[in-house]
Amino acid sequence: MSKVAIVYHSGFGHTDRLARDVAQGVADAGGLPDLLRIEPQQSDFGEFFDRIADADAIIFGSPTYMGTVSAPMKAFMDASARPYFVKAWKDKLGAAFTVSGSPSGDKLNTLTSLAIFAAQHGMLWIGTGQAPGNNDDHSAATDAENRLGSFIGAMAQAANESPDVTPGSGDRASARALGGRVAVAAARWRRGESEALRAPALIG
Ligand SMILES: Cc1cc2nc3c(=O)[nH]c(=O)nc-3n(C[C@H](O)[C@H](O)[C@H](O)COP(=O)(O)O)c2cc1C
Repeated sequence: MSKVAIVYHSGFGHTDRLARDVAQGVADAGGLPDLLRIEPQQSDFGEFFDRIADADAIIFGSPTYMGTVSAPMKAFMDASARPYFVKAWKDKLGAAFTVSGSPSGDKLNTLTSLAIFAAQHGMLWIGTGQAPGNNDDHSAATDAENRLGSFIGAMAQAANESPDVTPGSGDRASARALGGRVAVAAARWRRGESEALRAPALIG
C-alpha cells in the first residue's frame, strides 16, 4: 500500500474541502492518505517532516492568495530547507492542487511554484493526466471533471460561499482523481523500485 502525505493550508475551508477529496481519492485507489493541515502561525514542522519521511508521495495544497501560495504554505516551504539539505524527499512523487475565487485568478502560478518547489527537493511530478473537461459543449459546466483544463495540477474555483457548497462537484471530482492518480503512481513506483533494486546493473 502506498502512503500519500497531503500537506495543505486553508484559510476559509475551501482548500480543506478539496484536501479531504484528494484523501478520498487516495483511499479509493487503495492508498493510505495522511492529511497534514498547516495552521496560520505555524513555524514548527517537525511532526510534519516525521510523518512525511515514510510517505511515497506528497500532494501539496494551497489556496491562491495574491496570485501565489498562501503565507502559511510558504512558511512550510521555507522550513523544508531541513529535509532539503539531507535530500529526504528526493525521488518521492509530488503533485498539487489549488483553489481561487476567480476562474483564472492567476492560480497557475501557485501550481507552478509548487512544482518548482518539488523539483528543488528532487521529487518527481505527477500532473492531472486528464483531458480538459468542458471543451466540447460550449457550456461552462460545473460538474465536468477538470472543467478548468489544468494539466500541471488540480484546479478549483470557489465562490464567496461556504465550503459546504463550493467548490462544485466537477472540481471536487478533479481533486479525487488527482489523489487516485498519485496513489496508483506511488504503488507502481514502489513496485518498480524494488524490481530495479534486484537488478542494480540496470540503474547503474
Ligand atoms: C488574501 C487573499 C488573497 C486572494 N487572492 C486571490 C487571487 O490572487 N486570485 C483569486 O482568484 N482569488 C484570490 N483569493 C480568493 C481565494 O483564493 C478563495 O477565496 C479561496 O477559495 C480561498 O481558499 P481557502 O478557503 O482554502 O482559504 C484571495 C483570498 C484572500 C483571502
